Amino acid sequence: MKASWMFQNLASRARFALRHPAYTLRSLLNEVLLADERFLAEATGVPVRKLRTFLNEPFRSQGFSTHLAACRAELQGLKIQSAAPFGKKILLQYALIRAVQPDAVVETGVANGVSSAYLLLALQTNGRGRLHSIEVGDAAFLPKGKTVGWVVPDWLRERWQLHIGDSTKVLPALLPRIAPIDVFIHDSLHTYEHMMEEFVCTYPFLRPYGFLLADDALWNESFREFSDQVKARYARILHGVGFLRKENSHTGV
Ligand SMILES: C[S@@+](CC[C@H](N)C(=O)[O-])C[C@H]1O[C@@H](n2cnc3c(N)ncnc32)[C@H](O)[C@@H]1O
Repeated sequence: MKASWMFQNLASRARFALRHPAYTLRSLLNEVLLADERFLAEATGVPVRKLRTFLNEPFRSQGFSTHLAACRAELQGLKIQSAAPFGKKILLQYALIRAVQPDAVVETGVANGVSSAYLLLALQTNGRGRLHSIEVGDAAFLPKGKTVGWVVPDWLRERWQLHIGDSTKVLPALLPRIAPIDVFIHDSLHTYEHMMEEFVCTYPFLRPYGFLLADDALWNESFREFSDQVKARYARILHGVGFLRKENSHTGV
């Protein structure tokens, strides 16, 4: 049997399962029913079996997985929680980028650059698209001597533009220049006000059937409220990340 993302991080998963048995049982049931993959398949029109192949790609990319493993030691014990290497939370975002084949992706909140590295790997595998990442540049979250996005390997930087500044200032200047946006991913400051401000600012520049994602969407009500406000047909929180598809008929917020 080919190795799969599901068999990664087994020790930390086992420790988590012992602490949170009910959550773990629900997650296992979701995996058996392929609930996440089924939702993404419906929202993107890409078959479930193809999405499952995408989920395993980063792990099976020798260059990428070796690079992430080498960064792991320095990522542990930091003040900030970066996306867990090979966790389903980031793999679902990777799979979405593979499914949607976007030209323009925007993310807020870079820190060490784990999520940026995954998004760029997806764009490189697609053979198209650019990633604009916005980061205020708080060095307190980085290992000593490292700069924002240090995890992104040189061989993935060609499709990347890093913007240093507050997302509420950078987004209004950047979006009209690069619109339409295919995918927007929030992972900066997780307050209700800041998340809403990013959603409201970005949504009009998102193309019809484009996707708005919000990491740590369970920290407050902003993602759920925004999904209701724009009457999203496809909106769900998967592994803490909100996924919302913009409808064609919607006129904006
Ligand atoms: C959770 S971390 C991002 C983690 C990253 N996406 C990953 O998966 O590795 C949040 C980042 O958002 C940045 N941030 C906080 N407020 C911001 C703002 N107003 N504009 C842009 N970036 C901000 C912080 O400096 C921090 O680096």
